[in-house]
Amino acid sequence: MPPAVDAIPHYLEKTYWWAYVHPRAVRFFERQWLVNLILWGNFERLRDAALDALGRRISGRTLQIACVYGNFSASLAGRMAPGSLLEVVDVLPIQLQNLRAKLPGSSQVHLHLYDSTALGFPDRSFDQAVLFFLLHEQPADVRTRTLSEALRVLKPGGKLVVVDYHRPWGWHPLRYLFKPVLQALEPYAMDLWNDEITKWLPAGFPADHIVKSNFYGGLYQQLVITVPAGR
Ligand SMILES: C[S@@+](CC[C@H](N)C(=O)[O-])C[C@H]1O[C@@H](n2cnc3c(N)ncnc32)[C@H](O)[C@@H]1O
Repeated sequence: MPPAVDAIPHYLEKTYWWAYVHPRAVRFFERQWLVNLILWGNFERLRDAALDALGRRISGRTLQIACVYGNFSASLAGRMAPGSLLEVVDVLPIQLQNLRAKLPGSSQVHLHLYDSTALGFPDRSFDQAVLFFLLHEQPADVRTRTLSEALRVLKPGGKLVVVDYHRPWGWHPLRYLFKPVLQALEPYAMDLWNDEITKWLPAGFPADHIVKSNFYGGLYQQLVITVPAGR
C-alpha cells in the first residue's frame, strides 16, 4: 500500500500557506508572467535547461516531484516519447487539481498525492526524475529525505535533475537586494546559498556522478545527478 498523506507538512502550512495552500494563492500565482517575474525573467530558460537535461524526446518513466505554477509540466509532457509515462506527485490535493486543469487529458500523465519524503513507488522504478524549485522550500531534514527518496525510486543509470536557488556571485546586485526578501519569505532558501546541495545527498554519493551548472550570475543552479550503475 502506498503511504497515505494525512497532514500538510508543517513548513508548508506555516511558511508557504500564502503560496500553495490557500485556494486564493493558487488563483493568484497561477499566471505564467508572474512565475517568470518571480524568477527574474528566467522561468523559460530554467525550465528548458531542466527539460534539455532530461532529453529532447523523453522515454521510459519520468517522475516530477512537486507541481510547479506555469507551463512546466505541460512542456515536460510535450516531450514525452510515445509509450512513455510522466508521473507527477504533490502533497497538496489543491495543487494536483490545479495541475490537472492545466494539462490536456492524456493517458501518458498520472498524478499522485504523495509526500516527497515517502514516495509510494517501488525502488528503481523510474528512468528520470526532476525537482524544480522544491528543495529550497524544505527544512534540511525534509530535503535530505526528499533526495534520498528521489534516488531510491530511480533505476541505476537513471538521472535526477535538480533546479533551484544558489548564492549569486559577489558582484551580483541581487546577492544583496534579494537576500532579505528570501530570508523573510523563504527562510530555508538560505541553506542553498550557504551550502552545496551535495550536503543533503546520501553520505558517500560519488561526486563524479554530479554535473553542476549555474545561471543568471549564480542565483540559480542545476545539478544533473546520475545514479551509479552498481547501486
Ligand atoms: C515545486 S515547489 C515550487 C515551484 C515554483 N516556485 C513554482 O513556481 O511553482 C511548489 C510545490 O511543492 C509542493 N510541495 C512542497 N512540499 C512537498 C512535499 N513534501 N511533498 C510533495 N510536494 C510538496 C507544494 O505543494 C507545491 O505545489
